[in-house]
Amino acid sequence: MDNDLCRLTGAEFPLFAFSHCRDVVAAVSRAGGFGVLGCSSFGSHQLEEELAWIDAHVDGKPYGVDILFPQVQQASSGMSMDDFAAAIPPGHVDFVVDLLARHDVTIARSEVIRDRLPPTAPDEAERLMEIAFRHPIRLIANALGVAPPLMIAHAKAAGVPVAALVGTKDHAIKQVQAGVDIIVAQGTEAAGHCGDISTLVLVPEVIRALRLLGRPYGDIPVIAAGGIVTGEQMAGAMAMGAQGAWTGTVWLATTQAETSPVIREKMVEARSQDTVRSKARSGKPCRQLKSAWNEAWDSPDTPDPLPFPLMPLICVPALNKTFAAAEAGSVSAKRLATYESGQGVGMIEAVRSATAVVQDFKQEFADAFAQFVRMVAAD
Ligand SMILES: Cc1cc2nc3c(=O)[nH]c(=O)nc-3n(C[C@H](O)[C@H](O)[C@H](O)COP(=O)(O)O)c2cc1C
Repeated sequence: MDNDLCRLTGAEFPLFAFSHCRDVVAAVSRAGGFGVLGCSSFGSHQLEEELAWIDAHVDGKPYGVDILFPQVQQASSGMSMDDFAAAIPPGHVDFVVDLLARHDVTIARSEVIRDRLPPTAPDEAERLMEIAFRHPIRLIANALGVAPPLMIAHAKAAGVPVAALVGTKDHAIKQVQAGVDIIVAQGTEAAGHCGDISTLVLVPEVIRALRLLGRPYGDIPVIAAGGIVTGEQMAGAMAMGAQGAWTGTVWLATTQAETSPVIREKMVEARSQDTVRSKARSGKPCRQLKSAWNEAWDSPDTPDPLPFPLMPLICVPALNKTFAAAEAGSVSAKRLATYESGQGVGMIEAVRSATAVVQDFKQEFADAFAQFVRMVAAD
């Protein structure tokens, strides 16, 4: 395929795959899509290893990275792990121990708080970005606010396009004014942090807002995100003016994904109404599988989820213990287990390889397009 986005990023087929898993990133890029490694779960040392591995396994195909650079978190710059730990109330630690115990999962009080700085702390995000630019990345993406000037300057110098995720047209305008090259218009259907506008409305709204800003079609390519798990949906989004699809959920149910087998099972079983936008995972509204974990935190008589970035510090160790107990056969732990997931999960019917997902997308896209052309020609 040939459009502005493909030329800018080197993608053969503009299916962008956000994943925390290097195997998925490399497999998607090798299959003609474009893998984007989410860096928020890595420390700097580990990121270097992951990117070196991708370089060795991607057969020279293009890939990118996504770094969380939250705008509102600058106050935590310079905070040590002890400072973060001290900000977590003991009552929240007790609540986690008790909630897990009620679901057959044992966690000691001393294990509740993750022993690693949040990778989204500004200093850590900067370190991750510097490492990323030492590799042949073809795109750098930023979420949770306007891409920082440092990222944009670094990217311009390296000739790497900057993409930014937005959930409203106003955010898109701010990002373009800050100098980003690509907008990912992410609707509320999406896994992870999301707003409340649907993809179907947001994509054309953002494209129109950019045109009114004097940036006509293709000048700043827009990628549609949120709820897209098939090639037909990708074709639909591109008929609205998007130049590609940006996806996350569909890769979580692949054989290569980092997800626990229990989560993959839950995803195949889930209907589209089985996700919830809750603060129970990160402290910000974040779409995830409905489970006893978010039900407990969202109930009125329990402690409120902590603000970002404290909530992930107590959420990650607890859910890791939960996955282990569920994998060992505990039904109650399986009920507690959750993971980021978008509404498109309802259309995931089986666990496939990432390569097969790209191939299915291509076929479905071509079929949808051919059907469209036949319909117009028959007129
Ligand atoms: C497990 C998971 C974690 C995510 N974390 C991030 C992130 O750190 N940064 C980001 O820009 N987007 C993140 N996202 C959102 C994806 O980039 C993408 O926009 C979204 O998954 C698209 O919607 P879909 O899930 O319906 O395909 C995450 C998605 C998933 C599935």
